[in-house]
Amino acid sequence: MEDWQHGFYKLKRAKRQQLIAQQFDLSKKQEELLDTQQDPINEQMVENYLTSFHLPQGLAVNLVVDHQSYVVPMVTEEPSVIAAASNGAKLVAANGGFKVSQSRAMRTGQIVLTGISDFNKTSEWLTQRENQILSIANQAKPSMQRHGGGATKVTMRLLKNGWLSVDLLIDTAAAMGANTINTMCEAVGEWLTTQHFHVLTAILSNLATDSLQTASCTIDVADLASTTSSGPEVAQKIAQLSDLAQLDPYRATTHNKGIMNGIDAVLIATGNDWRAIESGAHAYAASDGNYKGLSTWSVAGTKLIGSLTLPLPVGIVGGSIDIVGLVQLNQQIMKIKSAQQLAQIIASIGLAQNLAAMKALATDGIQAGHMQLQYRALALSIGATTAEIETLIAKLNQLPHVDRQSARTALKQLRKESPHGKN
Ligand code: MEV
Repeated sequence: MEDWQHGFYKLKRAKRQQLIAQQFDLSKKQEELLDTQQDPINEQMVENYLTSFHLPQGLAVNLVVDHQSYVVPMVTEEPSVIAAASNGAKLVAANGGFKVSQSRAMRTGQIVLTGISDFNKTSEWLTQRENQILSIANQAKPSMQRHGGGATKVTMRLLKNGWLSVDLLIDTAAAMGANTINTMCEAVGEWLTTQHFHVLTAILSNLATDSLQTASCTIDVADLASTTSSGPEVAQKIAQLSDLAQLDPYRATTHNKGIMNGIDAVLIATGNDWRAIESGAHAYAASDGNYKGLSTWSVAGTKLIGSLTLPLPVGIVGGSIDIVGLVQLNQQIMKIKSAQQLAQIIASIGLAQNLAAMKALATDGIQAGHMQLQYRALALSIGATTAEIETLIAKLNQLPHVDRQSARTALKQLRKESPHGKN
């Protein structure tokens, strides 16, 4: 470790910046960037704070879930995501909107015991003390019961010879509840230690199989027609693409990445832990031993039917949600009243995103729709000003082949043609 890193965490932000500027040869302009993007609230949220990294936030429109219309804030750096979600949602809205499941979400925490000589006997001992275990968990976080939640059930799983997982089923009400679950598990773990068990770990599980959320939709195949294919042809191909994602993990991974494009963007906009949902989603996708697409599409007569199920243990209070002003603003735009409603919207956005990708793959391919948005990013990356972007994109659209070099040449040419266009 280099000397300047000693005690880095103790320094004031400005001092940290000064050190970094020296160490990494930052220009005055780069230092200004760090300065202008710094934020005193964000500074309180992480260790060794330097500045804030901004991402674009846009709004997905046209979403209808259980007959209610929503505008959905999405935070993403990927150019096509919000447009695709809005397009998918529009197609579904014209067909009655998304339908969603209604179950109350529960979380799981686990206390893993080792050195168990008799699984059945220990399970029985623990089952007899279920009420005691639940009350230890609930006393560790009494506010949870006041909010209508709390630990509700204890079950046991044999992991391997001698290893047993004591699983706590916990209702975290409106919160994601990670801290609550960990606090409860640790309290139960401590008690089990006093009862002479060896506790390997006491921690929440992000595989929230008791927080499954389903969104589904039914679309008239006629609405899927493209310039080159009929509606039934497109629907058939979407169903085949769905089958492909069920049988080939290479395709399933990309299929699910498309779903998570939408889901992550809403999770970030609503202050939820997107890494937790990502890991849970992928573990769930592999729950029968083979990694599969999280959504399925099939054709029944003149209808294309889509469905997506994944664990969505999201929250609307607690943690960074209560601190970040934009998150509260985004909740207001979404008219969110409960964590369950948020999970329903997120699952619907995931399916809308997936539908848009499926339709593009079944018709023109992905690149055709992405190109205009990619040209915009390319134009910015080669230094085009906002005043030049539209004209430059029009020029790129005329070219048989576009890359960085040809884009630079087109920009030079544009500046020669209208030297005052550059601002
Ligand atoms: C791109 O970010 C996501 C897609 O590749 C998803 C898919 O292929 O289904 C378009």
